Amino acid sequence: NSEVFILAIESSCDDTAAAVLHNDKVLSNVVANQLIHNLYGGVVPELASRAHQQNIVPVIDAALKKANIKKEQLSAIAFTQGPGLMGSLLVGSSFAKSLSLALQIPLIAVNHMQAHILAHFIDEEDCQKPTFPFIALTISGGHTQIVKVNDFFDMKIIGETTDDAVGEAFDKSAKILGLPYPGGPLVDKYAKLGNPKAFAFTKPRVPGLNFSFSGLKTAILYFIQKNKVINPNFVEENLNDICASIQYTIIEILMDKLKLAVKETGIKQIAIGGGVSANSGIRNTLIEAQNKYGWKTYIPKFEYTTDNAAMIGIVGYQKFLSKNFETSAVVSKARIQF
Ligand code: KG4
Ligand code: ZN
Repeated sequence: NSEVFILAIESSCDDTAAAVLHNDKVLSNVVANQLIHNLYGGVVPELASRAHQQNIVPVIDAALKKANIKKEQLSAIAFTQGPGLMGSLLVGSSFAKSLSLALQIPLIAVNHMQAHILAHFIDEEDCQKPTFPFIALTISGGHTQIVKVNDFFDMKIIGETTDDAVGEAFDKSAKILGLPYPGGPLVDKYAKLGNPKAFAFTKPRVPGLNFSFSGLKTAILYFIQKNKVINPNFVEENLNDICASIQYTIIEILMDKLKLAVKETGIKQIAIGGGVSANSGIRNTLIEAQNKYGWKTYIPKFEYTTDNAAMIGIVGYQKFLSKNFETSAVVSKARIQF
């Protein structure tokens, strides 16, 4: 079993990605971003699906070439079954199915959100793997979840957003500030230069481990509108401080819930995943939490935070070991939990 080569395909949203893994090691991890959506201020599903069709063959070829692996050497094909945009998912799943039939090798379906969590099990030199059970905070453009992870495929959502995802909170705030889509990374960039306590935004009151971010967006909108009446250049003159204050508030909201999750479960191991876990403020806060609260925190490498196929590959490898295979009758699912 020590010579498993998995080709993994990820196409759930607007990134076409392919990776080749040798057991739990990543040999190649290729992503083609679809910049076309930036012109529209958000992902346009029909355009995403068409771009996937154009990108998928070159991206897979590049992944195989970079890994120096021939198709014939592959042990199995893993693909993202969902959640995601149906038209996008279908491009990846159809391709995976035909390749598995052509090569006569097993087909493995992977849950995108599980993959964001299990990306921590990719073998990397200076990255420790979490031990079970641990708490995962998955934060992306589409999801915000606190998950109790008992084992590879035994996970329970114990908290989630009741409206917008954290990534949307970043992107929508950025839009209010006139920044281009996706604004999350830009808020992060300007926040580094600003004072996080310059402006105060009220945190939402949501019971238990659930989140709400739509109120914050509205609060920011009114705050900006009000201040622009007084000073039309308010945003330009205070961009760094505004971004730092927004990011600070978002991190406070996340940390409040993580503290509660630790209290309720007694688990002090925290792993983050998803596109927003690329945020430098969130990363630093979680590193500091190790000394401050006695937690053990796991922060993924940058290339495994935003959507990628390596994370699909590591789940594929785990499923390969337990022979958890699918036939080509397996269907893509826009909405699935674990
Ligand atoms: O996981 P992902 O690549 O795609 C989804 O599955 O949604 O996450 C994309 C989200 C976007 O909202 C983007 O603005 C956000 O992650 N993001 C960030 C940063 N990098 C990406 N948000 C804040 N700070 C960042 N550095
Ligand atoms: Zn994602």
